[in-house]
Amino acid sequence: MNSGARSPVTGTRPEGTRDEAEAARRVQDLFGRIAPRYDFLNHLLSFSFDRAWRRRTARMVAPRLRPGARVLDVCCGTGDLAFAIEREARRDSRDARIWGGDFVHAMLERARGKAARIASGVQFLGVDALRLPFADATFDLVAVAFGFRNLASYAVGIDEFRRVLRPGGQVAILEFSEPPGPVFGRLYRFYFRKILPILGGLISGSRQAYGYLPASVARFPSPEDLAERLHAAGFASVRLERWMGGIVVLHLAERAADERG
Ligand SMILES: C[S@@+](CC[C@H](N)C(=O)[O-])C[C@H]1O[C@@H](n2cnc3c(N)ncnc32)[C@H](O)[C@@H]1O
Repeated sequence: MNSGARSPVTGTRPEGTRDEAEAARRVQDLFGRIAPRYDFLNHLLSFSFDRAWRRRTARMVAPRLRPGARVLDVCCGTGDLAFAIEREARRDSRDARIWGGDFVHAMLERARGKAARIASGVQFLGVDALRLPFADATFDLVAVAFGFRNLASYAVGIDEFRRVLRPGGQVAILEFSEPPGPVFGRLYRFYFRKILPILGGLISGSRQAYGYLPASVARFPSPEDLAERLHAAGFASVRLERWMGGIVVLHLAERAADERG
């Protein structure tokens, strides 16, 4: 699966895709097809841990939610990270302004439906994470849950996050990872590579989408590699946390206050 430990992975490449444009189109198509069952399958296949992971991420970024803070949940899917962050802000009566952005219309429709049902103030927009339609230094926080791995160019994604953050602003990237360790790692791989694609395929009707999930995680840079890429791109205070034995990893980093030009 991996093209070799030493060859740098530039972005996602679903099977059979040759370049960034093709990879992005395939990702868009995959998520468009699974959107109707996305939430249900997320909760089922993760035994509902996905909710706890987003809540924990929201708690970790809560110190950034000062009154009037501007927050972007990018690759927001059906909006659950944005809603979790909004709950954190409301808990402390802070009026953060939160946007959710995704390039799959069917995901955004579901996000807007949920927002209406729970009286959320999150605004959902069609955006491409690799060409964010926001001015430089707009946000105090850019957060992404399980979306970064799907970008056709990690370098462009990181540069865009940095560009739209104000100096000192924070990026939070929550992503799956392959857990280290022989016993847990083997169990995890068995579940993730054998069971999950079958279950996900049967329920969503797209074997391709749920085969792509483990393949994309196996190919994704290691947590240390991603931390290094953030640092090299002008982020400071880069840190990472492994949760649940390393199944998911949260990276936090700050846009360095000094401009690179
Ligand atoms: C695995 S889902 C994660 C959704 C949500 N953040 C969550 O926590 O469930 C990945 C999302 O990233 C979106 N995505 C992938 N590449 C994107 C891009 N270049 N621009 C915007 N959205 C993108 C997909 O459309 C999909 O909704």
